[in-house]
Amino acid sequence: MKKILLTGGLGYIGSHICVELINKRYEVIIIDNLSNSSKNSLDGIKKITGYKPKLYISDLRDKLSLLRIFKENKIESVIHLAGFKSVNESIEAPLSYYNNNINGTITLLEVMDQFDCKSIVFSSSATVYASSNEMPISESAPLAASSPYGSSKLVIERMLQDLCSSDDDWRISILRYFNPAGAHKSGLIGEAPNGSPNNLFPYISKVAIGDLEKLKIFGNDYKTQDGTGVRDYIHVVDLAKGHCKALEFMQDNKKIIVVNLGTGNGFSVLEVVKEFEKACNKKIMYEFSERRGGDLDKCYADPSLALKLLNWKAKLSLNAMCRDTWNWEKKK
Ligand code: NAD
Ligand code: UFG
Repeated sequence: MKKILLTGGLGYIGSHICVELINKRYEVIIIDNLSNSSKNSLDGIKKITGYKPKLYISDLRDKLSLLRIFKENKIESVIHLAGFKSVNESIEAPLSYYNNNINGTITLLEVMDQFDCKSIVFSSSATVYASSNEMPISESAPLAASSPYGSSKLVIERMLQDLCSSDDDWRISILRYFNPAGAHKSGLIGEAPNGSPNNLFPYISKVAIGDLEKLKIFGNDYKTQDGTGVRDYIHVVDLAKGHCKALEFMQDNKKIIVVNLGTGNGFSVLEVVKEFEKACNKKIMYEFSERRGGDLDKCYADPSLALKLLNWKAKLSLNAMCRDTWNWEKKK
């Protein structure tokens, strides 16, 4: 069994990747510092797959502990998700974002290099694209960061490009996620943000369950089908499967690839609300409010490169994302 180190593997996306990797018979080793997750994810993973991956509760920036993990396990490839991910928080605490995201990655890459493990999948984000881009966005579109979070992703992307140029042995997949949503269909793993959620799906879900009174829709005067913001929501299980495809691709190809993971479809906030109402069979209360600073009117992917290179295409619908988010919310 090939051993994969999954950094941030107890988090929202990481726990779903872990399930898909186990389904594909990889041996998964997780490192997570529990800064935005809990060990409960491990129970969910065990119930779904029948297998409990090895877990190291440790910070990626702790080099000694990372060296020990690589010494104890013959790791073939790394899927690197560990990091902070909130745009707003990064504006308030930029140093903590640069420190965690960039220093964590440098430490990881140094240790990988030392152990001659030169294969990594990195979770980047659509936030690296310049806001002036035409939709759909392809990977060659101009890049510009509009937050410290986005800058940290851009710096890491650049670092990986430089590493690849310096040494032909590296195999690197940079995956730019659009808007992950949904949960595993079992309802045993899903997104569990600390405090009040910032993102649309977890917020709607909290309104549906009755924990929050109503959704604030940020702007209804955008140039979109109904005035509300349009995004490319991608089911987290589709996203997770994209990582398995990237690992397969990297086995035969020694180079760096940069690939969008999105569906290519854009849905407005109101369209998501309507679909969620169908899934939970309840009315979602909402009101329109001011635009949120930094938001774009539309953002959706050109996903054709992922099909061409990885033979990957998102399959699950918006309906499935709402159904599975609701199922997870009810079981939590
Ligand atoms: P998440 O917060 O649920 O998961 C990240 C995990 O990393 C958490 O379990 C956290 O405890 C862990 N972690 C953070 N810093 C760490 C450190 N220094 N050492 C060890 N563990 C650490 O977030 P997620 O939504 O699963 O996102 C995973 C990755 O995908 C992140 O890199 C994020 O930037 C990227 N991404 C997420 C989205 C999204 O909308 N969710 C979109 C684009 C890209
Ligand atoms: N929205 C609301 N009300 C809310 C939350 C969101 O109206 O309470 C709207 C936003 O204005 C936007 C849409 O719902 O039009 C989606 O917003 P999210 O906050 O869910 O997602 P974003 O597109 O702003 O950003 C997300 C991640 C980023 C990542 C980006 C692209 O938060 O980290 O997707 O991958 F970079």
